[in-house]
Amino acid sequence: MPSDFGVNALPPLIDRQGRHYTYLRLSVTDRCDFACVYCMPPGGEDDHALRPDLLSFEEAARLTEVLSRMGIDRVRFTGGEPLVRRDVVRLVELVRRRTGLTKLVMTTNANRLAELAHPLREAGLSGVNISIDTLDAVRFREITRGGDLARVVAGVHAAIDAGLEVKINAVALGGVNDRDAGALVDWAWDLGITPRFIELMPLGEAANLPATSFLSQAQLIALLGDRLSLDSEAEDVRGQGPARYLPARSGAVRRVGFITAVSGEFCGSCNRVRITARGDMRACLASRSAVSLRDRMRQGENDRELAWAVHTALATKLAGHSFEDGNLSTDNQPSEHTHVGMSLVGG
Ligand code: GTP
Ligand code: 5AD
Ligand code: SF4
Repeated sequence: MPSDFGVNALPPLIDRQGRHYTYLRLSVTDRCDFACVYCMPPGGEDDHALRPDLLSFEEAARLTEVLSRMGIDRVRFTGGEPLVRRDVVRLVELVRRRTGLTKLVMTTNANRLAELAHPLREAGLSGVNISIDTLDAVRFREITRGGDLARVVAGVHAAIDAGLEVKINAVALGGVNDRDAGALVDWAWDLGITPRFIELMPLGEAANLPATSFLSQAQLIALLGDRLSLDSEAEDVRGQGPARYLPARSGAVRRVGFITAVSGEFCGSCNRVRITARGDMRACLASRSAVSLRDRMRQGENDRELAWAVHTALATKLAGHSFEDGNLSTDNQPSEHTHVGMSLVGG
């Protein structure tokens, strides 16, 4: 590690595999107002963070500032459900002011977005990824264990109206909502937004679902019938993350994203680091180990010391993950938690 950084510069986020990290996923709560069957146990996790365990807004903003000085230029606020954190709009505003970043985005279930879309946009948010697995209100309620589809759809409209860039995330579960995929795509395209399908990852709650729930990318693509143009590999576009996008057969600007989270084909170009709501830095979604940046801040460490702690966490990161073998390991650390749900890590 070079030691001749300038006075304000901090060691850049590059790992042993030469991967450059530019994208922070910052979880702001591990709670959610839904309890999707593949994510959250009914009634929520049994070990939610208590208020003093959570990063304060000041602490979260300080970490984003440190990381932005190390090369992060895009921050995604995640959860649980980020909009259940009280005053989250103020956090977005604080992060924008402290970092000056313009690429501030959020992943949300949109249950509270109808009220919050405009304030979030004013605070500096530029986009939202909204989770909707089906447009069938009954199946939506079943999958989310109580969610009201009409409220969520109102949230989508508010987000578009506020000028946020909107994408839709859907997890297609075999035998449950796979039949609804085509209608979801048509609806999103009519609104001028991009739908994406995510391969179900066997993490936390999802590990208990039947094997028939898991659909491969090829099966996801097949669900969309002749909507997509599959002939030209050249038309396959990558985003800033694991999603790849295929264009509509109609040739318009319409496209559908696919996130092949399980195959791990994108690990080699991974550009993201994660901070949990408790202030643990996790080098990967499937990491077993974490470094508590919160505890270091509370012990009075300075920015440079925090930056080295971040590098300590990165040093545990291996070249790829291994969801497939049920081992859920991407590092060489002993396991503290056998159950690491998506809502605890932030997706
Ligand atoms: P964009 O920047 O808009 O492409 O967002 P994103 O896809 O990175 O974020 P989003 O929160 O919408 O995540 C969509 C799905 O991708 C979720 O299921 C995430 O858990 C998953 N995902 C995001 N990053 C990673 C990653 O690094 N590894 C794996 N395996 N899955 C990821
Ligand atoms: N596998 C794949 N995606 C998941 N999500 C939550 N749990 C899982 C899982 N086990 C998705 C949500 C949301 C995003 C943040 O993560 O649907 O769109
Ligand atoms: Fe909540 Fe999102 Fe998990 Fe569903 S997938 S329970 S909306 S955090």
